[in-house]
This record gives sequence, C-alpha cells and structure tokens, in this order.
Amino acid sequence: MPSSIDRLTIIQPDDWHLHLRDGPALRDTVNDAARHFARAIVMPNLAPPVITTAQAEAYRQRILAARPEASDWQALMVLYLTDNTPADEIDRAVASGNIHAVKYYPAGATTNSDSGVTDIKKVYPVLERMQKLGLPLLLHGEVTDTHIDIFDREAMFIERILIPLCLQFPDLKIVLEHITTEQGVAFVSNSGDNIAATITPQHLLCNRNDLLAGGIRPHNYCLPILKRSNHQQALINAATSGSAKFFLGTDSAPHPQNKKESACGCAGCYSHHAAIELYAEVFERAQALDKLEGFASLFGPAFYGLPVNQKTLSLRRAPWQLPASTQLGGDPMVPFYASETLQWAVVDGE
Ligand code: DOR
Ligand code: ZN
Repeated sequence: MPSSIDRLTIIQPDDWHLHLRDGPALRDTVNDAARHFARAIVMPNLAPPVITTAQAEAYRQRILAARPEASDWQALMVLYLTDNTPADEIDRAVASGNIHAVKYYPAGATTNSDSGVTDIKKVYPVLERMQKLGLPLLLHGEVTDTHIDIFDREAMFIERILIPLCLQFPDLKIVLEHITTEQGVAFVSNSGDNIAATITPQHLLCNRNDLLAGGIRPHNYCLPILKRSNHQQALINAATSGSAKFFLGTDSAPHPQNKKESACGCAGCYSHHAAIELYAEVFERAQALDKLEGFASLFGPAFYGLPVNQKTLSLRRAPWQLPASTQLGGDPMVPFYASETLQWAVVDGE
C-alpha cells in the first residue's frame, strides 16, 4: 500500500561505499556523486591500487579537480590493504586527516583485487594499529576458494574469517560492506557497536531471479552476487529497521556497456544516476520512508565519527523513468534499473 505523503525532506545523505574510477571517467562519476550527496567513501581498487597515503592524497586531488564548479562535495579516502602494507602506513593515513578507512579485498575476490590480502593473518600487525587508532576496516566479505559455491561465499566468510577476526580484535571498527545475506544481517545485528554494514540498492531491489530468470541480465551482475529472495527480504528489514548498524553504501561501480555485455562480463552496477531515489523506492515499498533519513544521513557519520551534514535534500512523489543509457568517460554505459520507473524524484535547487 503506498504511503500518503508526497514530499520528504531529509538531511543531505552520504555514500559510504563508492567506486569513482580514474582518468576520463571521473568527470561523469564525480558529477553524479556530487549532485545529491555531500560525501563519499571512495574505494581504492584502481589499477594499480591506492596503497599508500601519498597515492590516496594524489587520487583525492584528481577527484576534487573533477568536481562541478562551486561544489563542496567531499571525497573520504580509503587505503587498499595488501600483504605488504606496513603498520606505519596507518599512522601516516590517520595523520593525513583525509583517509577514513582501510579496505580489505581477499586476493582475487573481485574487480582489481589481485593485490589484495592472501591470508588475513599476514596483516594482523596492521589491524592491531588500526584498532589502536580507531581507523575502520572495510571488508569485502567473501571467501575466494574456487570450490566454494559463489552463493555461499559471504556466509562462509563470516564463519571462517570474520568471527575469528572479531575475537582477535574485539575493538576494531569493521564495516561488512554490501551485505547480501540473512547471515550477514544476523552477524552484524548480534555484534557490538563497532561492527556495522552497508547495503546497496541492487541488493534491496533485486534477487537472483532478476539476474538469471528469463535470460541473463548482465547489468544486474555484481559481487557479492544477488542472492535468493529470503536474503533480499532480510536486507530490506535491516535497512528499514531504524538500526544504526545498517547504512547507505551504493557500491556504485561503473563499467562501460561493452565490458558488461560480454562473454565474461564485469561485476558492478552503476547506481549514482539515481541513488537516493532508488533507496526511496525501497523504503516506500516497505512503508518505511520515515526511516530513510537515519539510514542515508545519520548512521554513517555516527559510525565514522564525522559531523552530520548541514544541508537538506527534498524528494517529491513524481514518477520518472530512468535513462536507458548514460556516459562513462566517453563510452556508453547502461546504469542499474535502466528504463525502469521510480516513484520519487529529487527536488533540485533547494
Ligand atoms: O560488483 C562489484 N564491482 N563488486 C566489487 O566488489 C567491485 C566492484 C567494481 O569495482 O567493479
Ligand atoms: Zn565496492
């Protein structure tokens, strides 16, 4: 049953998980990111990855140079953890004031993760330093063993890697990124305040039927892969629950159309053409629009220890059709939910 309100004003949201890429793509991705959001946690999986504080500072400058004129949107930088990251890099990162987290990719888990960690024990000295200094660890929470079924990789990660990790580092701040399963929701819900999770629009709006039933839809392919509808429902319940442990992270991850529509297509859904509107759709369907502001604008800053934004963003009920195609650095790109209709639109210029 649709809710009765026609207008919604929230504190300006932030995106706590975003891929901007580099080079010519930045004009498009940064422009979209800065349209409605105030800040974003920027993923470091470039080729080569953003491993050092100096590399993160240089990348930040390239990003800020691509901002639209007069924009005060902020890039919150993240270091890419490798087997060889020295613990002292954490001191430099914290001292910079511009680095807000460190990302753990299991080697081989996803796009540009080849330099990722081969065994989490190898980075224990780095995690020790992060725990001491309060720098959050962001997890791509999937095991990579080739014999483990792709649909089981998140649940297996929680059992084999995450539970022992939390026992070893009980005070380490951890974000289990882009959770996709009931097990992910349960683990985060039952953990202390130092453990949180981000949830993407595609995992809230879709399940694996949207990827595989009636034809393969490569634009719904991302990692972790879409799961069964019971998992989708658990994510909707978590996002709309009002719990401060779950907050907005789009994982918007652009790839050109030809790299997605391929015999071996890339993982990633681009959602920053309509990010807050996609989430509004989910919250509206769950009759929980009153919970959108906490999820989008309050719980992320609270976890990261950052101030809440000053500005507001207004949406109104005004159905609109998403574009069939957009641009990524001069290449055509098919964004997530292309050509679908959404019920809520941002009121620009307020
Ligand atoms: O679908 C994904 N795309 N998942 C990731 O973890 C990485 C991302 C990308 O960078 O394309
Ligand atoms: Zn990501």
